[in-house]
Amino acid sequence: MQIKTAEFIVSNSDHKLCPEPTKAEIAFIGRSNVGKSSLINMLTNKKNLAKTSSAPGKTQLINHFEINGQWYLVDLPGYGYAITSKKNRALWGKMITNYITRRESLISIFVLIDSRISPQKIDLEFLNFLGENQIPFSIVFTKIDKQTPRITKKNIEEFIQALQKDWVELPQYFTSSAINKTGREEILSEIEHLITYFKPDEKE
Ligand code: GTP
Ligand code: MG
Repeated sequence: MQIKTAEFIVSNSDHKLCPEPTKAEIAFIGRSNVGKSSLINMLTNKKNLAKTSSAPGKTQLINHFEINGQWYLVDLPGYGYAITSKKNRALWGKMITNYITRRESLISIFVLIDSRISPQKIDLEFLNFLGENQIPFSIVFTKIDKQTPRITKKNIEEFIQALQKDWVELPQYFTSSAINKTGREEILSEIEHLITYFKPDEKE
């Protein structure tokens, strides 16, 4: 897919205030600092479309971007940000759970996993939550420029093994580097494929 236009539309904390659900929507989520906003900028070829930061907890709201006037790309705040308060974590949980389970135009989620580290409980739990709610998703292993391909491969294999404990069918996965633009073509062509299934008239 060619990205011709990518435009910020709105940020909010309530799924009810999101744009009308008339366009296919794809969301990006993952642990705080995993590289969601950077991946969105890499995919859209826009340096500062989504705000990035080396400090975790940068994205706090549900952010809608309209791509090619055709579909919405959504940047979500990360989970597992340790410094945030209990109250904030509860608010995050409510906002994200409501958005993910009630947004009728959301067709799939890309869950970002840091390719540098061993499987994290919080990521596995989040994938189980998606499974329990029958939300379609794919995985993107991020920041692969940070280590050798051998270590990336080992970490991915460990993650897949951990998934096999709970999952019979394994999800599709991609690898990415926001620095080298690795994974851009693959992820965009998957999105192109996914959005063809969206029929606005068949809302539940
Ligand atoms: P929150 O909004 O806080 O949840 O974080 P996020 O997941 O949106 O992460 P963000 O895109 O802001 O990136 C976090 C940090 O990781 C920044 O310093 C980025 O420059 C860096 N980063 C993101 N992706 C990559 C990548 O592919 N390679 C490298 N080397 N650094 C990356
Ligand atoms: Mg972010």
